[in-house]
Parts: sequence; structure tokens; C-alpha cells
Amino acid sequence: MATYIVFLGAPGVGKGTQAERLAEELKIPHISTGDLFRENLKNQTELGKKAQYYMDAGQLVPDDVTIEMVKSRISRPDCVNGAILDGFPRTSAQAEAFDQMLKEAYQTEVDFVPCIQVDRELLIDRLSGRRMCPNGHVFHMVYHPPKEDDICDICGQKLYQREDDKAETIEKRLEVYENQTAPLIDYYQKRNVLRFIDGAKDIDAVTMDILAAFKDVTKK
Ligand code: AP5
Repeated sequence: MATYIVFLGAPGVGKGTQAERLAEELKIPHISTGDLFRENLKNQTELGKKAQYYMDAGQLVPDDVTIEMVKSRISRPDCVNGAILDGFPRTSAQAEAFDQMLKEAYQTEVDFVPCIQVDRELLIDRLSGRRMCPNGHVFHMVYHPPKEDDICDICGQKLYQREDDKAETIEKRLEVYENQTAPLIDYYQKRNVLRFIDGAKDIDAVTMDILAAFKDVTKK
């Protein structure tokens, strides 16, 4: 059965880290809107140029641009058996548009929403220590260090620090999350597909909790 999963949670809670693991486990694609924007930025596409201003400022890229990008990605054949969305939807308009996309393309709805929670202080610590490679593999200098300094364990590329992981931008991103994305918790809770996950545990323990919650929500 096809499975569509939406990861919710503030910047730095571990959505990307966990979405990558769950995608491997369930053998469905991991779609990160942040990674899609960064890829466009790297290739200097029109979309990337449009997104850069908002990303650097810690603000959301406008809904119309984001929704169009996800619509084109979710309609690709590899999403027919499901997908894991990381960083989307992030506003009420995006959530409604996503419902419509799933309905039109696959006659289905969102199956499971893990909402990861971590204290603000720990979030700042995680974001400031994060390093990633150009292919989107994520590390942390203390909690998940690469085997070799500054080199990705998976693809051997050089690691870098994201522009928006600077202290001033982190504050703005956390504020945007509270104002624009946190209201989606209520949206998915009403459908009984959302489960809160304690993201302060270590990475393996969080994965186990997410898998247990997934089984619980999808058992019929
Ligand atoms: P995006 O890339 O989606 O960033 P984000 O939501 O701010 O989330 P992050 O990637 O910062 O954090 P994460 O939760 O994935 O944490 P991670 O696993 O890396 O978006 C960036 C920008 O793009 C936005 O600001 C916006 O401008 C734009 N954008 C994207 N989507 C959009 C949308 N839908 N609409 C409009 N604009 C959009 O983990 C963080 C660190 O902690 C890592 O170093 C990791 O190794 C470590 N870590 C993870 N889990 C643990 C653990 N359990 N214990 C210890 N360390 C851990």
C-alpha cells in the first residue's frame, strides 16, 4: 500500500536525519523542499535565484513557488508507492494544496505525521554544529561526526556549513516556524495521523520511536 508521510518540527529537530532513515526503511523517496531549493541554488536556476533571498533571510519561499515545485516532484513515477515529505507543508495553504495533490494524483491522503520536538536551546546547538555535503547528507560535529574531518562518509564530498545556520538567521527561522508552521500540528491532529516524538533522544532511539508510532498509526 502507498504511504505518504509528512515530517513536522522546528528547524534542527532532526527531520532530515530521520526522514532519510525512514525512506531507506520503507523504500520510498525522501523529498526535502530545503534540499530541492539548495540544489536549484547550486545550479543557479531561476527557481534557485528566486528562493535565495528568502532562504538567506530565514523566511519562507512564497507558497506559489513552493507548491509548484512539490507538485512537479510528487507526480514523478517514483512517488507512486509513497513519499516522505521533509520541510513541506509549512503553511496552511501548502497543507491544503498537498491534500489536493495527493487526491488528484493518487486518490489518497496523508497517512502519518511524526512531529519531532526538541527544546529551543538544544535546537540552536544542533543547527550551529551541523555540517552537510552538496548531496544533502547531514552530520554534526559533536553528535554525528564524520569519520574524516570535513569529508562526507557517504559520498566523499567536502562538508560545509549552511548559510542559514548563522545565529541571527536561526532566530528568525525559529520565529517563522512558531508563527506559520506550528499551526499545522492542529490540522493533522484533528485527523488522528499525528504523533509527537521526543527528538532529544539519540538518533537511533528517535528512529525506533518513529517506526513504532508509524506502525501504530497505520495499523488498520
Ligand atoms: P530546510 O532545509 O527545510 O530547513 P529546516 O526546516 O529549517 O530544517 P533543517 O534542515 O534546518 O533541520 P532538520 O529538522 O532537518 O534537522 P537535521 O536532521 O538536519 O529549509 C531551509 C529553508 O528553505 C527555509 O528556511 C525556507 O527559506 C526554505 N523552505 C524549505 N521548505 C519550504 C517550504 N515548504 N515553504 C517555504 N520555504 C521553504 O538535524 C540538525 C542537526 O542535528 C544535524 O547536524 C544532525 O546531525 C543533528 N541531529 C539530528 N538528530 C539528532 C539527535 N537525535 N541527536 C543529536 N543530534 C542530532
